[in-house]
Amino acid sequence: MNAFSTLSFETAPAVRIARERYGSERSSTAAPRRCEMGGGVHVGPAFAFGPGLGSGVEGESADRSDMSLRAAALLLLTTLALAAGCDDEPETPTVIEAPEPPRAAIDIDDPSACASCHATVVEEWRTSMHAHAHHDEDPLYGAMRRFRMEREGPELASGCAQCHGPRDPSDPDSPASRVGVGCAACHGLASVDRGEGSRMGARALTYSQSGAMRGPHDVPASAPAPHGVGDAAPWITDGRTLCLVCHDAVSNPQGVANCTTGAEHAQAGADQSCTSCHMPQVEGASGAVSSRATHRSHAFMGPHHLWREGEQGTAFMASAVSATPSLTGTSLAVTLRNRTQHAMPSGFPGRMVVVRAIGFDEAGAEVWRSFREDPMTEDPDAVLNKVYVDAEGAPTMPPYATEIARDNRLRPDEARQLTWTVPSSVTRAEIQLIFRLLPPSAARALGLSEDPVAQPRPLLAVTVTR
Ligand code: HEC
Ligand code: HEC
Ligand code: HEC
Ligand code: HEC
Ligand code: HEC
Repeated sequence: MNAFSTLSFETAPAVRIARERYGSERSSTAAPRRCEMGGGVHVGPAFAFGPGLGSGVEGESADRSDMSLRAAALLLLTTLALAAGCDDEPETPTVIEAPEPPRAAIDIDDPSACASCHATVVEEWRTSMHAHAHHDEDPLYGAMRRFRMEREGPELASGCAQCHGPRDPSDPDSPASRVGVGCAACHGLASVDRGEGSRMGARALTYSQSGAMRGPHDVPASAPAPHGVGDAAPWITDGRTLCLVCHDAVSNPQGVANCTTGAEHAQAGADQSCTSCHMPQVEGASGAVSSRATHRSHAFMGPHHLWREGEQGTAFMASAVSATPSLTGTSLAVTLRNRTQHAMPSGFPGRMVVVRAIGFDEAGAEVWRSFREDPMTEDPDAVLNKVYVDAEGAPTMPPYATEIARDNRLRPDEARQLTWTVPSSVTRAEIQLIFRLLPPSAARALGLSEDPVAQPRPLLAVTVTR
């Protein structure tokens, strides 16, 4: 769909900004334009702001950017002519042209530079872990990175930044890296090439030299954007190829699988894309330059949203699993069904969900609990997690493991029943699902025990009465 055709008269903010930016004006002659009334399509002179930025799709000839850089006034004139009916041969209009603009009209690695035109997605993105993927912004990643660099050497840093700072992995502290997984990492791409499938992070990405931003829509070169534009990017529209660049599967040097979200999703024969769940359609336009009534959320909701304000994230997380309890005689049970299309929990190998059951008597007093201190020793079936061990069989961090000793997570689509025997005095029971980003032992090793990320958070709770 040609989104621009429906919104070309609603770009006042972009036009105003452009005019402010290129305020000093002089006259010149516009290139001829073509006008097709029937389809409502118009092609004006290429309207772009930066040499080499304008033509949009990578590899296109320089012609279109050579058609030169017009200031906002040109668009307004063209627009007025079109609005007036676009009859006959256009006379040569007098246009006001900007002086040579700087090479990049905006810094594509600065998400604040997008806000005037795409405000809603910028705000959403700021709440996402993609905006907190740099080691100074994410205490857990920062601590793990430090821990590993002390043991494995400083060379590790650029490897981590392949995915945590993909715009400039060779310098994890440059401004572009500090942004984390920013707009340009996903939209400033000329191509995605995973090789045989093992190439991940920035190694799989070729950035557009022209600074073109490609999204889910075909945007014609005439769009008044301060960045190049282009056709819809297939790796974006299929809802998964782009995500798998960083979320597919990573093994440690010993060949032991660490993160496997993409592989889990593929094995499950999933029929929903990553974006259909993680970028749901939400009300409202994506920003001032869009006339669409909805857009896909850029909050990239996931477990970290349980640690943040806001019900949206809690509701998203609760959608991960359904829990159906029953209480008959002295048997308490809950059936858990994984509603994601990958394992639950997925992703970072330290995640765990602990299922805790508490029984109350007629008077409402607590008379029973499925565990008191340590669920891994008292009720291990009720812990949905992975355990990594070294060659001696001792638990270790995933990067150093030689084996996965246990993977008790819910598989995609799995329904699993947990059962407990409770005292007959129990007339009501509550079953709680509790999420942890990392096990307490790892939090201690990383010096994070007091950090909020090391505290458990409720995922959901259900009650059942006899
Ligand atoms: C992790 C990758 C990723 C990041 C980071 C990202 N986007 Fe997107 N963006 C997407 C995907 C995927 C879509 C398309 C969703 C769909 O419609 O299927 C999209 C869609 C869009 C759209 C089209 C919205 C519409 O109206 O339909 C705009 C505009 C956009 N992004 C701007 C931005 C800006 C600005 C930033 C930075 C603040 C950003 N994006 C960060 C992946 C990303
Ligand atoms: C002065 C206004 C303006 C600014 C600032 C701006 N853009 Fe745009 N952008 C546009 C216009 C106009 C379009 C084309 C209309 C559309 O498709 O929404 C566009 C289109 C896009 C698209 C394609 C959207 C789609 O629907 O496929 C992406 C992605 C995008 N911009 C990203 C960015 C990013 C990232 C930044 C900041 C680095 C940015 N833009 C800054 C005006 C702007
Ligand atoms: C360039 C690499 C990269 C790409 C591409 C990418 N991600 Fe991410 N994503 C990350 C990193 C790195 C993190 C973790 C950041 C952290 O916790 O420090 C992350 C975190 C997440 C999270 C976890 C959020 C939370 O609250 O815990 C979700 C969900 C997610 N990404 C979804 C997506 C989706 C959907 C796509 C495709 C549209 C995508 N990502 C594309 C690198 C990427
Ligand atoms: C049917 C909906 C659905 C689909 C499809 C889906 N997810 Fe998820 N995903 C969820 C839910 C709900 C959660 C939260 C529960 C959890 O952490 O496992 C989640 C969690 C995640 C996390 C967080 C893991 C962590 O603990 O940091 C990442 C990353 C992620 N998904 C990426 C993806 C990617 C990439 C795809 C596509 C290959 C995908 N998801 C497909 C629903 C979905
Ligand atoms: C191939 C891409 C990739 C590389 C390389 C990578 N990561 Fe990540 N990392 C991710 C993604 C994607 C996530 C997001 C969430 C998930 O899947 O759970 C993540 C999440 C994390 C988390 C959890 C953060 C949190 O807040 O929950 C830690 C810790 C982490 N990475 C450490 C590292 C370290 C240290 C390195 C370098 C040795 C590294 N990562 C290299 C992709 C990568």
